[in-house]
Amino acid sequence: MAHYRAVGRLPRQRHTQLRDDDGHLFREELMGEEGFSSDSSLLYRRGVPSAITDSTVWELADQSRTPNHPLKPRHLTLHDLETGTCPVEGRRLVLGNNDVRIGYVLTGTDPSPVYRNAIGDECVYVESGTGTVETVFGTVSYRAGDYVLVPRATDHRWVPAEPSRLYAIEANSHIHPPKRYLSRFGQLLEHAPYCERDLHGPEGLDELVASCRDLTDVEVLVKHRTSAGIVGTRMTYATHPFDVVGWDGCLYPYTFNIEDYMPITGKVHQPPPVHQVFEGWNFVICNFLPRKVDYHDLAIPVPYYHSNVDSDEVMFYVGGDYEARKGSGINIGSISLHPGGHAHGPQPSAIEASLGAEFFDESAVMVDTFAPLDLGEGGRAVEDPAYAWTWAGRGPGVGDDGGPAVFSNS
Ligand SMILES: [Fe+2]
Repeated sequence: MAHYRAVGRLPRQRHTQLRDDDGHLFREELMGEEGFSSDSSLLYRRGVPSAITDSTVWELADQSRTPNHPLKPRHLTLHDLETGTCPVEGRRLVLGNNDVRIGYVLTGTDPSPVYRNAIGDECVYVESGTGTVETVFGTVSYRAGDYVLVPRATDHRWVPAEPSRLYAIEANSHIHPPKRYLSRFGQLLEHAPYCERDLHGPEGLDELVASCRDLTDVEVLVKHRTSAGIVGTRMTYATHPFDVVGWDGCLYPYTFNIEDYMPITGKVHQPPPVHQVFEGWNFVICNFLPRKVDYHDLAIPVPYYHSNVDSDEVMFYVGGDYEARKGSGINIGSISLHPGGHAHGPQPSAIEASLGAEFFDESAVMVDTFAPLDLGEGGRAVEDPAYAWTWAGRGPGVGDDGGPAVFSNS
């Protein structure tokens, strides 16, 4: 996030003394990406950020992955997935590869433990629910339709105000706006579908720090990598990590709501990259949102068949009218996985049905990956095995009485 902010108490110049009224010297900490060579923030803390009193194993939920083999399109029904209620520990792995993992959880209302993802940034899409995320930078509020961007290594905890459906995109890299939408100095350009005003950073730092001031021996769950893969460690900190009295820089959590995204439309069907909102290493995040569609006299509003030569495509259907997909099984809460190596698109009947349409009322979040996605144990648990045959209308376990229309707009 190349967008400077300054919050709370700071010394006039960096790397100089900052003391409280009693003369106590605050500890300065740099959080910086890419080895002092990219975005960073300077934090001023009451405690010592490296002071731990214990470190034990945190057993992660099942992270096993099963390759998509034999190759076929997949349909996963996330609303059928039973998860834990903790916003962090309750996540079940739905899909993943070595660049990004998608987890899903329906939370309760208890706060999560303090948590730090040391592997990469998290982009958590809020399908439903409200609450806050408390972080070392302050508190961000969340609501349905938000992407909550949490930079790698940020101590934070989720505090749902109500049960919340969270679709957690966990990267092995940083997640940021598409490079083509940024000026060479990092400002969002005029042709970008959103701008800095739409990004909401943390607030309420003083209140959060005051509420944690006297807490000691605080457990922090750390997700990290080893040569054995993804693991967890439970670290105990001598003082509470939410002890930052001021910070400044370009690295901090923020939210962006899909309502504030301005869809780019065209005279004929526009390809998915116009719907892109973020990107990470080897994957992109797009959103298909309610919008006017193509205005050419002979336009075909639904997509042409496309073969994703270099990528797997994951659609998560989060809102809108899916009557046109009736029979395919796709509905709110569904995920479709259309893998590279196999073409996909609508059935001919869906194409005819779309002619003359002026508006699409649909909301979907898409993740496209350049490396193949495996099925996580959560994904395997809620797979609809008939989906792959819905274009042909027949296949293993499906009768020969005609297949349902698949009205995929991705
Ligand atoms: Fe597609």
